Amino acid sequence: MTRKLSHKNPTNLKTFYYGAPYYPEHWDAATREKDPEWMAAAGFNVVRMAEFAWDLMEPREGEYNFALFDETIARLGEKGIATFLCTPTATPPRWLTCAHPDVLRVDADGVPMQHGSRQHACPSSPVFRAYSRKITQAMAEHFAGNPYVVGWQTDNELNCHFSECHCANCQSAFREFLREKYHGDIGALNAAWGTAFWALTFGSFDEIQTPRNGKPAYANPAQLLDYARFISWNVTRFQHEQVEILRAANPQWFITHNGTFRHIDYRGEFTQDLDFLGYDVYPFFDADPTHRPLSQAFNLDHARAWSGNFMVPEQQSGPGGQGNYFHDNPEPGEIRRMAYTSIAHGADSLLFFRWRTCRFGAEEYWCGILDHDNVPRRRYEEIKQLGQELKALGPEVLGTHVRVDVGVAAADMAVYDAHEALSLGLPSPWQMAALIHGFFCKRGYAVGCVHPADDLSGLKAYIIPHWALFNPEWVPNLTAFVENGGTLVIGARTATKDWNNNVIAATPPGVLTPLVGARVSEYGRQNAPDKRPLSINFPKAKVATQHWYELLEVLPGGAVMARWEGRLHLDRKPAVMMKKLGAGAALYVGTYLTEEVLEQLLPALQERNALAPLWPAAPEGVHVVVRENDEKRLWFFINNTDGFVCLENIPEGEDLINKRLTGKFYLKRHELAVVKQLR
Ligand code: GAL
Repeated sequence: MTRKLSHKNPTNLKTFYYGAPYYPEHWDAATREKDPEWMAAAGFNVVRMAEFAWDLMEPREGEYNFALFDETIARLGEKGIATFLCTPTATPPRWLTCAHPDVLRVDADGVPMQHGSRQHACPSSPVFRAYSRKITQAMAEHFAGNPYVVGWQTDNELNCHFSECHCANCQSAFREFLREKYHGDIGALNAAWGTAFWALTFGSFDEIQTPRNGKPAYANPAQLLDYARFISWNVTRFQHEQVEILRAANPQWFITHNGTFRHIDYRGEFTQDLDFLGYDVYPFFDADPTHRPLSQAFNLDHARAWSGNFMVPEQQSGPGGQGNYFHDNPEPGEIRRMAYTSIAHGADSLLFFRWRTCRFGAEEYWCGILDHDNVPRRRYEEIKQLGQELKALGPEVLGTHVRVDVGVAAADMAVYDAHEALSLGLPSPWQMAALIHGFFCKRGYAVGCVHPADDLSGLKAYIIPHWALFNPEWVPNLTAFVENGGTLVIGARTATKDWNNNVIAATPPGVLTPLVGARVSEYGRQNAPDKRPLSINFPKAKVATQHWYELLEVLPGGAVMARWEGRLHLDRKPAVMMKKLGAGAALYVGTYLTEEVLEQLLPALQERNALAPLWPAAPEGVHVVVRENDEKRLWFFINNTDGFVCLENIPEGEDLINKRLTGKFYLKRHELAVVKQLR
């Protein structure tokens, strides 16, 4: 049965799991001695293990040894700490790659990857898949009856380092995918890809290769998109084989995977196979501490858009260092604040990467909770504090979803991949979603990311930023949203390409034309907006545009909201349109939705749907998020500023963190409050 994947879904978890990925294989028994005790004291109820331990569990082909994990699971279990295990397929052992070098991935230059790091084997290799099934089966059988094992993570961050493989196995798997997709009809494939251009016509499926853009020139965008879809299909099939084995061994286990990375459609079967998605949170990859809260919020909202609330199998607990970078050290309170940010945005469980900083290997400077010398210091104390707080808060968040008033279209892998295949140098739909999300987030609105096929009820405004690739099947959902009173904002270039990634035959915006009351009669790139400035004259201000202009033609029902100014042939021509439909309205904006443009659209959004910030009295820099269900509302007030803030008149209710009556109180740097209100 297919589950509806929705941003509003809570996970099916009955326990808020709190803990860390744990690597007993890195340490001797003496160093591990106190781990269960220290973990229990920190409030842990779970660890994750074994994702990179294939060489230990199967040291020689067919010879299994799970002793270290049996012992560790039992020692932790006795202290009330459960375990979820991982299939170890991100790091196949050396005996496997020695015996079968053809499992290694191959890059676009034809260079095979080497054994020596991770993700070196290709999921399209039948040999690798057979070995992956065998180790999964052996683990599943061995741990099926273990009362302390509660679930699984498949592999680890599939496609994190490498996704576009060109090995011999991928050539045949790509053809298999295409044969299935085009029902063996090569003519249908030629038509869908537009192979009449540059003499690309294929006589049979056997002639097709994985596309290598730029080798020598630009590749066919339709072929590139199908290749990206193939990668998703291939990884989904690989994961599915593991899921089947695990579910058969013990149907009580939860199964998750830690995403999200390139070319995997997390709104498709990949996630249907799981109980819920996992999402790894590393905010310090944004080097700017002032921007980090915004990027973290966006990334979390984006992760939630695929399928709903998620688990965080890895959350940053210290500075990360690898190769040529080393993050800032989180300040006291910062790890906890970032963890609360994840919980506010939809985490139903959270683990800190990682328990103890390893002293060797490529990640010997990737700092965990404990330092290299196994001394618990301030990071441990902070995580312990959160562990105590989560005893009350954890159960409260389960079963709630994050409130969204303004939705930004996001989380469609085909749309992202289509843009990447032929971007025209324009900002990507992902980048534009981040920009729009940030605009509303800074101003205190309940903004989130929502896919156009998702449940749009409850949203006041919905914004689709420049989704050239567009599925006509989404139109009825969008139309219903508008008819029911929502305000839809559609950015330039939307719906200009069909699902194959070819340009549509109709005048843009094609299938959206009846909804917006306008069509595009001319468009152009703005490559040097400073040299040939172009502006839109809004009622309150004139705003210089960037990236793109469209000249709009008014159709019945459409009303002009703003006009172009700056270049003679465009002067006074319509630039922004609005059409009323049912109880709502659709706006079409003939340029990119920059902050300046959004600022001018905001009054219309506010007026039409009484759209307002979640808690208008919140001081600047205090991030407000609400998780709710029919019974209650949990208000998160997170101080993201560099100093003290004073919160006044916050909603009446129970303060779950500070255990004090609500009213006026101060939050120090990195501090926060969570107020529970019954509805
Ligand atoms: C994650 C990965 C972990 C570890 C961590 C720190 O992406 O899943 O295994 O590598 O990053 O780099």
